[in-house]
Amino acid sequence: MISLICHNEAATISFGEKLASILSPGDFICLDGDLGAGKTFLSKSIIHALGVTDYVTSPSYTIVNEYEGKYPIYHFDVYRIDDIDEMYEIGYEEYFYAEGICLVEWANMISELIPPSHYQIRLRMGAEFTSRIIEITGSTTELEKKLEAL
Ligand SMILES: Nc1ncnc2c1ncn2[C@@H]1O[C@H](COP(=O)(O)OP(=O)(O)O)[C@@H](O)[C@H]1O
Ligand SMILES: [Mg+2]
Repeated sequence: MISLICHNEAATISFGEKLASILSPGDFICLDGDLGAGKTFLSKSIIHALGVTDYVTSPSYTIVNEYEGKYPIYHFDVYRIDDIDEMYEIGYEEYFYAEGICLVEWANMISELIPPSHYQIRLRMGAEFTSRIIEITGSTTELEKKLEAL
């Protein structure tokens, strides 16, 4: 497991940049944590670091937003999904199994659809107003090696 504290927004942006630099097409990232924990903020940092210059908004109403950066990026927020059928209706497989990067906020709400190989990122509030604790689990051994090498 990788665990770190980002004391302010700048630290989260810099972590997002590091993560983006070691992602490969097909990588799947689950983001969980309470409202305001920073799932969208970290996603935006990753998306911008992947070369997207468009304005990045939360996909909470659209469920999925697509970007074309260094790789295709599919940014989901599944909080408003009431029934798993809604995921089939939007054709989630087209995104989840494409050669892009998937970032899925509230992934635990659709756990049955999450591909087995993924990174799990959990965010939570730290002691200060602007600090966030970030934990990554999943197939992190390789990721850890890459992060250490940076
Ligand atoms: N260190 C930090 N990392 C991420 N976000 C932070 C940090 N400090 C303050 N924030 C603020 O916390 C809020 C996180 O909101 P958001 O990313 O929308 O949360 P979520 O998507 O998890 O509901 C943003 O307003 C952001 O500016
Ligand atoms: Mg969000």
